[in-house]
Amino acid sequence: MLDSFDLSERVVVVAGGAGLIGPAVCHGLADHGARVVVADVDRDAGEAVADAVDGEFVRCDVTDATAVEALFDHVVDTYGRLDAQVNMAYPPDENYGRRFQDRSIEEWAEQVDNGLNSYATLCRGALETMDTCGQDRGSLVNFGSTYGVQAPDFSIYESGETPPTPAHYSASKGGILNLTRYLASEYGDRGIRVNAVSPGGVFDDQDPAFVERYEANTPLGRMADPEDIAGAVVYLVSDAAEYVTGHNLVVDGGWTIK
Ligand SMILES: NC(=O)c1ccc[n+]([C@@H]2O[C@H](COP(=O)([O-])OP(=O)(O)OC[C@H]3O[C@@H](n4cnc5c(N)ncnc54)[C@H](O)[C@@H]3O)[C@@H](O)[C@H]2O)c1
Repeated sequence: MLDSFDLSERVVVVAGGAGLIGPAVCHGLADHGARVVVADVDRDAGEAVADAVDGEFVRCDVTDATAVEALFDHVVDTYGRLDAQVNMAYPPDENYGRRFQDRSIEEWAEQVDNGLNSYATLCRGALETMDTCGQDRGSLVNFGSTYGVQAPDFSIYESGETPPTPAHYSASKGGILNLTRYLASEYGDRGIRVNAVSPGGVFDDQDPAFVERYEANTPLGRMADPEDIAGAVVYLVSDAAEYVTGHNLVVDGGWTIK
């Protein structure tokens, strides 16, 4: 193993680490030596992931600023440092699939609050924690999406069983990508790198007609596996990416190059 990928003694919080992609990310980090703290609302799934990587689970609702503050207080008290913060929670949308015009502006605001503002709360908390711990280096990785870079291709959703991601998702992910660039510029002089990972569609037993169309539009000919995404996070957290900041690492099998 290249030494620069070694994460021994590094404390990494993974917010939203108990979902589809999170466990592969937590395993990837732990396999490289990191002490992983899984922060998630789903206690059962979160504890299972934390146990599997010999890490710790902390229940945290990332849309609740008080809970996020408690998470970072716990990190300071327990570890006295935070080497990296990975933000990948995806607060659910009960009306997933509902069209843009059919949502009230209040619903829009609530979803952007959950999807974008929660990442700002996490970034603030992580930066403050790194400061409190007197660190002169650190890494933040925010999850964007290919749909934060370009619009969905509605034709692949024609079968109807897999609805397109909502407009607030694209707006939030686009916002996360620019927040990432902004913070990278502002905090570079403190040795803190801020990057993003933007996955393409991850296979999750979606409707076969959708999968077929998706794959036909993807240069590498398949949807992503969670493990495809994990390596990108390990890289950005590690010293191998010591000179990389403000970057959006797109992991999409070539979907966005067309
Ligand atoms: N799966 C994909 O195809 C895909 C594609 C592009 C981008 N992404 C992005 O990657 C990230 C991870 O995606 P995923 O597929 O693993 O999502 P997921 O929905 O499977 O998992 C998200 C995790 O976030 C947790 N979560 C939800 N609300 C929370 C809250 N309020 N506080 C704390 N945790 C909360 C869930 O319990 C879950 O463990 C997300 O940011 C998502 O937008 C995913």
